[in-house]
Amino acid sequence: MLEPHPDHPNLYLVDHPLIRHKMTHLRDREQGRRTFRALATQIAGLMVYEATRSFQTEPVEIETPLEPMTGARLVGATTVAPVLRAGLGMSQGVLDMLPTARVAHLGLRRDEDTLEPEVYLEKIPTDLAAGPVLLLDPMLATGGSAVAAADLLRAAGARDLRMLCLVAVPEGARKMREHHPDVPVFAAALDRQLDERGFIRPGLGDAGDRLFGTEEIGGDVI
Ligand code: PRP
Repeated sequence: MLEPHPDHPNLYLVDHPLIRHKMTHLRDREQGRRTFRALATQIAGLMVYEATRSFQTEPVEIETPLEPMTGARLVGATTVAPVLRAGLGMSQGVLDMLPTARVAHLGLRRDEDTLEPEVYLEKIPTDLAAGPVLLLDPMLATGGSAVAAADLLRAAGARDLRMLCLVAVPEGARKMREHHPDVPVFAAALDRQLDERGFIRPGLGDAGDRLFGTEEIGGDVI
């Protein structure tokens, strides 16, 4: 059972050797898009294990090839809510583990000067209260985007809301706690700080650019 971070009661660090290993490769500037995408997908998939640990199940009667038995099935309809663009880089990994989940797309862009989020797309399934909602965004920086996304999901009816991110900083964790204290944040890493441009340090660069090639670093052979 994961314990909350001692300084951030809303933050759960999913600290696992596989995740530490894959996060190190993900952060490496030499990784091209193909590897970056694959790693973001894999890490998100591994994080689902902890982020869903308190999901409810109910008994279900089945028959194995040998005899009847009582199994278990998840209760309710889960919704995965990636924050565009970078949250899309986590969604496939989560959907691999929760293949029947619905998807809520939230388009948010962070103004590079004010760092304030602006909503440009909101396409959310009806009846979010029907089950848990997993908010996905690789970066929890100032926390402005995460708070805005959680505001939208709450307004749309989400009750059991949880966030998954790859890298958080204390500033973002605090802001989420201030605005949404009841939303647990599962993070693969807690980094040192935000710099003066609002970038996470040491971080992994701009996840959206690295996923989608809008600014090139690293190299892809094909
Ligand atoms: C980045 C990132 C988060 C947000 C985090 O997105 O993917 O959504 O910034 O910053 P915050 O915690 O300070 O709000 P960006 O706005 O660059 O858009 P993109 O995903 O399209 O690149």
